[in-house]
Amino acid sequence: MKKTVCLIALFFLFLFSCNSLQNPYKEGKYSYEKHCADCHGVQGEGLGKLYPSLKSKEFIEERRLDIACLLRLGIKNDSLAMFRTKYGDQEMPENKWLSESDICNILNYINQMLWHKEPFTLNQISEQLKKCKN
Ligand code: HEC
Repeated sequence: MKKTVCLIALFFLFLFSCNSLQNPYKEGKYSYEKHCADCHGVQGEGLGKLYPSLKSKEFIEERRLDIACLLRLGIKNDSLAMFRTKYGDQEMPENKWLSESDICNILNYINQMLWHKEPFTLNQISEQLKKCKN
């Protein structure tokens, strides 16, 4: 009897952990908090005059897919100069190790938190990442 209960418990644990791994929202939250929140804040509120808040909707209207390039390459690239703000000498760093799906999940996480626009699809993001200029 104990064995059965244990097996059932294990089964649910397994089911739960797999679901959470496949939940883009949770993965986006995890990656956002790991790679972005130190500078931009847990809720994208920014950090005083050091780091910009992510609440601005101007760039999401005009160049929404370019944000994928910004996340991967940082702001050194002149073609991404429109993302420059007036935040001192600090630069948005590159994140070359982020995968296409990490970037997609992070953007969708921020989107549902702040921008409330149409979600990004993985296809759009991978097409865009091929076009980013180094
Ligand atoms: C080391 C701190 C730091 C980290 C980590 C960081 N950023 Fe930034 N980010 C910046 C700075 C500084 C700027 C403004 C750069 C400028 O004005 O030249 C910026 C700019 C941006 C912008 C453009 C904002 C605007 O109003 O134009 C977006 C979007 C952005 N970051 C998203 C992210 C995301 C998403 C992550 C996580 C993958 C991230 N950043 C990680 C420091 C950081």
